[in-house]
Amino acid sequence: MSTVLITDVTLRDGLQIVPRWVPTPDKLRIAQALPGCGVRKIELTSFTSPKAIPSLADADELASLTERDPLVCYTALVPNLRGAQRALAARIDELNFVFSASEAHNQANLRMSISQSLAQLEQVLSAAGDTPVNVSLSTAFGCPFTGAVAPTHVIKLMQQVQRMGASSVSLCDTTGMASPADVERLTQAALALYGEQGVTGHFHDTRGLALANAWAAYREGGRRFDAALAGLGGCPYAPGASGNASLEDMAHMFQISGVETGLSLEGLQPLAEEIAALTQEPIQSRLHKAGPAYALKVCQA
Ligand code: COA
Ligand code: ZN
Repeated sequence: MSTVLITDVTLRDGLQIVPRWVPTPDKLRIAQALPGCGVRKIELTSFTSPKAIPSLADADELASLTERDPLVCYTALVPNLRGAQRALAARIDELNFVFSASEAHNQANLRMSISQSLAQLEQVLSAAGDTPVNVSLSTAFGCPFTGAVAPTHVIKLMQQVQRMGASSVSLCDTTGMASPADVERLTQAALALYGEQGVTGHFHDTRGLALANAWAAYREGGRRFDAALAGLGGCPYAPGASGNASLEDMAHMFQISGVETGLSLEGLQPLAEEIAALTQEPIQSRLHKAGPAYALKVCQA
């Protein structure tokens, strides 16, 4: 049986767009409950400018308060050297350096050109030392400002950041523009460069294709994915952004397909309800509306 690793990104991508402030003790409770549901990688927060992302202004405090589970890898988003220094001081296990494959979105999101971001990455890699650095390539499948992003351009960026020393990449469909066919092509190219452990699929459900895209990546050999409880999230600097693939729905899809996730749906569903109540955002997960498929109930009997 194959196994996939699903990173929970609720506390970063999930919350970054939410207008309502979620108090640090509530974030902490979610962070500390996730390992009990089988989650083995958590994106805890982002070390961005609190002016750019006010809902994650407590990044340092949350990281210092979180009691670490030794089985869990804690990662956090960083946009620049300053963010990396904060994350390293907060004992984050892996830095998730973000920049965009599209110049227009990189400017809107990070107020930098791609070459300025690459210069920041150089410094982040040198500051990180032995701490692994994942590169999240936003808008890898399309840009909400300028439309299509050429796969050849994305592949060149993946090659460039690998030469610089990045250990892994995430292919991010920031505003849900990817088709499963696009995902097959780029996943293949990413796997050829970084291998199974080095490629994460990060899909948003903006056009209802997040799970279809995750499955397309899986069929190509992709084994790592991002997802958020209740399907929360999105980039506040991308017009039309909406939620991530739902963690519960993704776990359910893989489980009923015979793919091991290590996740407990019984544990995740109350957490999804809790984060929805805290944010006052609707639960996007289909599982919440319909319950698990019959096949799963049989498996559990
Ligand atoms: N953490 C905390 N503060 C930071 C910071 C970081 N990583 N980087 C910069 N700052 C502070 C500066 O100290 C400065 O503070 P001041 O106004 O009190 O002097 C302020 O932010 C502006 O700094 P500057 O270097 O001019 O940054 P900027 O305004 O051009 O913004 C980013 C650049 C990258 C910091 C900002 O755009 C950002 O944080 N973007 C993140 C967007 C995001 O997370 N999107 C969702 C994920 S896809
Ligand atoms: Zn995202």
